[in-house]
Amino acid sequence: MELFTAIETRRAVKHYSSSEAVSEVDFERIMKAVLLSPTSYNIQHWRFVRVIDPQIRAQIQDAAWGQAQVTEAAELIVLCADPQAWLDNPQRYWANAGPEVQGLMLPMLESFYRGKEQLQRDEAMRSSGMAAQTMMLAAKGLGYDTCPMIGFDSERVAEIINLPSGHVISMIITLGRAAKPANQRAGQLPLSEVLLENRF
Ligand SMILES: Cc1cc2nc3c(=O)[nH]c(=O)nc-3n(C[C@H](O)[C@H](O)[C@H](O)COP(=O)(O)O)c2cc1C
Repeated sequence: MELFTAIETRRAVKHYSSSEAVSEVDFERIMKAVLLSPTSYNIQHWRFVRVIDPQIRAQIQDAAWGQAQVTEAAELIVLCADPQAWLDNPQRYWANAGPEVQGLMLPMLESFYRGKEQLQRDEAMRSSGMAAQTMMLAAKGLGYDTCPMIGFDSERVAEIINLPSGHVISMIITLGRAAKPANQRAGQLPLSEVLLENRF
């Protein structure tokens, strides 16, 4: 599918055909595309939990106020992130760049992130958001539909998936074949309201 067609036809789909799987080849292709999303300093804060077990799905659905797509969709991915990833053996983020670049980047990371918890969390969420959009567009490009979700009790879902201490959940994405199209678009703000020139 052409890129602009994918952007223009991606919608938050709430009802899925339970009988139609996402092939392993497609799932891996989508996830490998996700790994190409940009992140600050190439830190790649993201961690993805693919929920396959129907019992865990049911628990997550319960924590998501019963939203149908949680169990109807062929795939459910919990997008998580590690705000402390900048500290986690960071030279591997520039593995191909060689020791000279690594030697420059490590002190930059230290001064940029050390002691700045809010920034660390913002970065984790930014990275995760980048991954989310790549996932949804890659899925659409292969003919699948998705729904990003934050309508769930994050603390309960964290318990259900054994979220490691210090990690955050950014959102859940459901992925599969639509059984019903999305509702009509609710209405986009005009470009003239949201695009400014030079200053607010
Ligand atoms: C971070 C985020 C969280 C969302 N959470 C939910 C959700 O819990 N349940 C749901 O049905 N839709 C959810 N949505 C879908 C939005 O309602 C939808 O993206 C928005 O209305 C625009 O529609 P569109 O994506 O079809 O263009 C969420 C979207 C985003 C980006």
